[in-house]
Amino acid sequence: MRVLITGGAKELGRAFSEVLGAQGHHLVITGRDEKALDAAGTELRAQGADVETHVADLGDPHATPKLIESLGGVDVLVNNGALGGPVGPTWEVDENDWWRTFEVNLRGTASAMNAAIRTMTSGRIINVVSNAGVHRWPYVTAYSVSKAAVIKLGENLAVELKRRPIAVLSYDPGMVDTGLMRRGCAPHTDDPDLLRVSQWTRSQRDEGRFTPVEQSAGLLARIVSGEFDHRSGGLITQKDH
Ligand SMILES: NC(=O)c1ccc[n+]([C@@H]2O[C@H](COP(=O)([O-])OP(=O)(O)OC[C@H]3O[C@@H](n4cnc5c(N)ncnc54)[C@H](OP(=O)(O)O)[C@@H]3O)[C@@H](O)[C@H]2O)c1
Repeated sequence: MRVLITGGAKELGRAFSEVLGAQGHHLVITGRDEKALDAAGTELRAQGADVETHVADLGDPHATPKLIESLGGVDVLVNNGALGGPVGPTWEVDENDWWRTFEVNLRGTASAMNAAIRTMTSGRIINVVSNAGVHRWPYVTAYSVSKAAVIKLGENLAVELKRRPIAVLSYDPGMVDTGLMRRGCAPHTDDPDLLRVSQWTRSQRDEGRFTPVEQSAGLLARIVSGEFDHRSGGLITQKDH
């Protein structure tokens, strides 16, 4: 299958790329960082993966749709790329940073989904979301509310697509010691709001609430295979492992 993974060169997205590449899918991975994409492409190919890399900024609502159209469509779209957004009391953070998070996490994801659906006869869309989109995550409200919106968008699209063989699933990979969460555990700052969030993140890790990255990527691979299509519109979590 042709699988497009946004943000597939780094961190959790990279772990997703590795497991899906090993399964023989044709991978299309995107991001903003051309160097990281080139390096990931080389390393994944050395592991035997069939992969192409493209720079596509989710902050540009035309970039990923253009790519999807130029490919003639994809079988699976994994919307993994996202921003963590600003940290702090919502009324104090920079409103432009706050809104930028929605442009990437919500609009970028929605534009990619729309383009995939327009070009897809059958397949699935997997939106990588977070516990932060289900439960309150104060001090990171742009991230939390943008992920909540993506979950709700998926619920609605699944109904709009019920006569077509296209599933839309939200996937919470669990808290994983990569990317956002790893950075969250060790901020290089004296900022009391960042420190508050990082203290909580570290406590979650130290109490054993993190999910091993292999487990997180393994469940994503099962969703990509179609195992959860009957739950279109729903949220798949580590409880489904
Ligand atoms: N880590 C966790 O514990 C955890 C838990 C729950 C959910 N998640 C979700 O998992 C996904 C990956 O998280 P992560 O921890 O790996 O985060 P990360 O380290 O911050 O990686 C984010 C990825 O998104 C890409 N990205 C960011 N902005 C982009 C843009 N404007 N256009 C295109 N790509 C963009 C980045 O690539 P470039 O820098 O090349 O653009 C990078 O590959 C996110 O959706 C996150 O919400 C993570």
